[in-house]
Amino acid sequence: MKIEILAADKTFCKEAVDLFWQTYLEEVYSMPFLPKDEEMKNLIDDSINQLFENGSGVMAFSDQKLVGYMLGWSVNQLFGPVKGVFSPMIGHTAKKEHRRMIYTKMLEYSLKTWVDQGYLSFAVSVLAHDLGLIDEFFVHGYGMRCIDAMRKSERIYGAVSGVTIKKASQSDLADIALIHGKHHDYYGYSPIFMPRLSEDALTDITHWFSQPEHHLWISYQGDKAVGYIRIQPEGETVVSLYSKVMNVTGAYVEQSFRSMGVASLLLDEVQRWLMEHGYHLCGVDYEAINPAAYRFWNRYFTPYTVSVARRIDERIVQ
Ligand SMILES: CC(C)(COP(=O)(O)OP(=O)(O)OC[C@H]1O[C@@H](n2cnc3c(N)ncnc32)[C@H](O)[C@@H]1OP(=O)(O)O)[C@@H](O)C(=O)NCCC(=O)NCCS
Repeated sequence: MKIEILAADKTFCKEAVDLFWQTYLEEVYSMPFLPKDEEMKNLIDDSINQLFENGSGVMAFSDQKLVGYMLGWSVNQLFGPVKGVFSPMIGHTAKKEHRRMIYTKMLEYSLKTWVDQGYLSFAVSVLAHDLGLIDEFFVHGYGMRCIDAMRKSERIYGAVSGVTIKKASQSDLADIALIHGKHHDYYGYSPIFMPRLSEDALTDITHWFSQPEHHLWISYQGDKAVGYIRIQPEGETVVSLYSKVMNVTGAYVEQSFRSMGVASLLLDEVQRWLMEHGYHLCGVDYEAINPAAYRFWNRYFTPYTVSVARRIDERIVQ
């Protein structure tokens, strides 16, 4: 099969949308509860159009037909002080037949263009059930970094002796300022090592809470807050924007209260609220490099994207 690679051109956007939709349906086949109606199709269509309009990348052709594309957003810093390119879930695909080979070619050409322009850090969000493609990225030196996962909103049940859960109002936020601060700092430690800018925890969580449809639950032992979970309408992928999805964007339990079922109890309260309010899907995103999160969320959610990352040796452009 002869593959020709060209710079991305927005006149091929409709073909790209059709190609991606076929790939997305492969993921839906493995996770039938993922949204697949007209609303989802329109969200995907809009996202791909925006990327072709404002992103950069390449397209693959065979016999003058579009068989793949790989585009991304430029960012000033990506996992370090170097310019990077992030290709979201809708940012790339290839026909199922010869997919790995098409990606090999698209990667070779797109990386050359981007590295020539000084981009050295790359992240790609890959549909999680395409194990062959994930392997292709691993072979190219990418490693797993983040995960987007989904579950049907369903009760978990369970109880933890002495622990109660409350849906927070503004006046309760001071109760979690201390543990919100600990959560913020947590990502700086081994084995995660994500640098964090210092911030005032109460100001941060108050600002977050003031935004529309942001909800938070606190777990208490007596009157001491020992954990929290929060949800909001937007997560990290186009699927998270679907109207029946709410997204968990943070959860934390005090170290001495872990492995007792406190986070499971918080998640159960979220499930109950989502079911009562007509959100039949619950999303979450987390760092694969955070073992506590990886273990906890994978217990209750099914990953639908895996983001992989590669950092190029900066000496190559010196
Ligand atoms: C992830 C996190 C919120 C989980 O909180 P948790 O309260 O310990 O979670 P749970 O107790 O509900 O479940 C975790 C463990 O307890 C076990 N467990 C659940 N219910 C239990 C119960 N009733 N009795 C005993 N153990 C129980 C689970 O089997 C699980 O064990 P395992 O991970 O060893 O297999 C917590 O580890 C944390 O705060 N981590 C740091 C911050 C973080 O990573 N947040 C997520 C970022 S998105």
